[in-house]
Amino acid sequence: KILILDFGSQYTQLIARRVRESEVYCELHPYDVSEAFIRDFKPKGIILSGGPASVYEAETPRAPDVVFRLGVPVLGICYGMQTMAAQLGGKVENASHREFGYAEVRVRGHSRLLADIQDRCDSDGKCWLDVWMSHGDKVTEPPPGFKVICENAATPIAGMADETRHFYGLQFHPEVTHTLQGKAIIARFVHDICGCGFDWNMPDYVQEAIGRIRSEVGKEEVILGLSGGVDSSVVAALLHRAIGDQLTCVFVDNGLLRLNEAEQVMQTFARNLGVKVIHVDASERFMNALAGVIDPEEKRKIIGREFVHVFQEQAAKLPNVKWLAQGTIYPDVIESASAKTKKAHTIKSHHNVGGLPDTLHLKLLEPLRELFKDEVRELGVALGLPHDMVYRHPFPGPGLGVRILGEVKREYADLLRRADAIFIEELRASGWYEKTSQAFAVFLPVKSVGVMGDGRTYDYVIALRAVQTQDFMTAHWAELPYTLLAKVSNRIINEVRGINRVVYDVTGKPPGTIEWE
Ligand code: XMP
Repeated sequence: KILILDFGSQYTQLIARRVRESEVYCELHPYDVSEAFIRDFKPKGIILSGGPASVYEAETPRAPDVVFRLGVPVLGICYGMQTMAAQLGGKVENASHREFGYAEVRVRGHSRLLADIQDRCDSDGKCWLDVWMSHGDKVTEPPPGFKVICENAATPIAGMADETRHFYGLQFHPEVTHTLQGKAIIARFVHDICGCGFDWNMPDYVQEAIGRIRSEVGKEEVILGLSGGVDSSVVAALLHRAIGDQLTCVFVDNGLLRLNEAEQVMQTFARNLGVKVIHVDASERFMNALAGVIDPEEKRKIIGREFVHVFQEQAAKLPNVKWLAQGTIYPDVIESASAKTKKAHTIKSHHNVGGLPDTLHLKLLEPLRELFKDEVRELGVALGLPHDMVYRHPFPGPGLGVRILGEVKREYADLLRRADAIFIEELRASGWYEKTSQAFAVFLPVKSVGVMGDGRTYDYVIALRAVQTQDFMTAHWAELPYTLLAKVSNRIINEVRGINRVVYDVTGKPPGTIEWE
């Protein structure tokens, strides 16, 4: 397995994704883990990520020395290369301007890392790579033992190698897809240079995970909050496969779910897969708790709190349960680790991560802790979950509660559910569902005047939102075809009595957020 030491680059998770796409298991840890940790990890190779620091500043993050003394290959990317150069006796200088974006680098000489990897060669045998750069500092003198393996005018040392010790540095980012040969470079490093086999794949993972769960849980019982979202659905399917009836799922209908969602969850899990699911209709309780509340953060807190109460009541009825299963995935693990060190401004309080309190006194079972989202989806497919469920757009924990602006009422939720279902149905029919990352309808509790037939109408407004994004941190509004928008608008106004106006949201993130509240 490969150890990735994180110096804080926004691309670090992508390095891990690329390594795993090469069918090699890897883990990502902060750069300052202890020497003992690194030794115990027994990596076959180490990758040093990029990061925002400058090796020039007084207090700069350094790779633990043991990294260079373990005798395993090391690949430094961007800041990772700079700190490698600085720590091994080379020179790094502050460039006068940042190099950011596409660049072309010439592959020089022969290195194991880049041999026969190129985007094009000219008739003189000079070969080139199209890469993505994002850096201020650069290496100006390689450490003793290193030679330059690629270059361009702006960055004469764009890559370096010490073939004896198997240390490599790249100033560009092989982990981003803009670097066309990036995947090949990462695969070269992990397979040919580190000697890792191809042993990270879904069918094997399913068998291993089942074995691990069985030995961890034994004959004890497990409870899981099943929401119908991708993560908890995959946990349910996996645990059911591993421990069958020792698993009980609690599905809480908070009255803020999408159209027919409860039926679909019961159909897929209880009827088709034979999973034990307790279906709790708590909509009344949620609606009462939300009555008169307008503030978005307050609404989120109430929905979170009510969920915990309902869940606890159900758990109390199952005295033999010893485990609480959760759909925590690897990005949650990484984020909560880094959240401890970073202070981020709270824009919205998401309560899906670690939402249930430890007052339940249950042991935590988190079988997806080491998987990225697309791996979770692959696992879901491997476990036989329906494609549409596994590839569904994300849905926020507070559900329609944050898509009904201001006070939540059952009447509003009913209108919104139907409008949303029409929008999604038309997106699917036109092939746009897959081309958007998240799409939904929002209920605006304001009335406007319209005319239908010969009559005046005075009804509510629905806003449509569809975005395209990689990471949900930034997003573009989707340029849906006018014909599609026209069809959705027509259908909503004709089929959902109470709505007489439909608008389309053309706000990016930033400055907007994806959800309206
Ligand atoms: P925003 O609105 O912050 O949304 O741009 C980014 C992503 O997060 C989802 N989201 C939530 N998910 N609980 C959740 O589980 C929440 O309270 C919550 N608020 C936003 C949103 O749907 C989008 O995918």
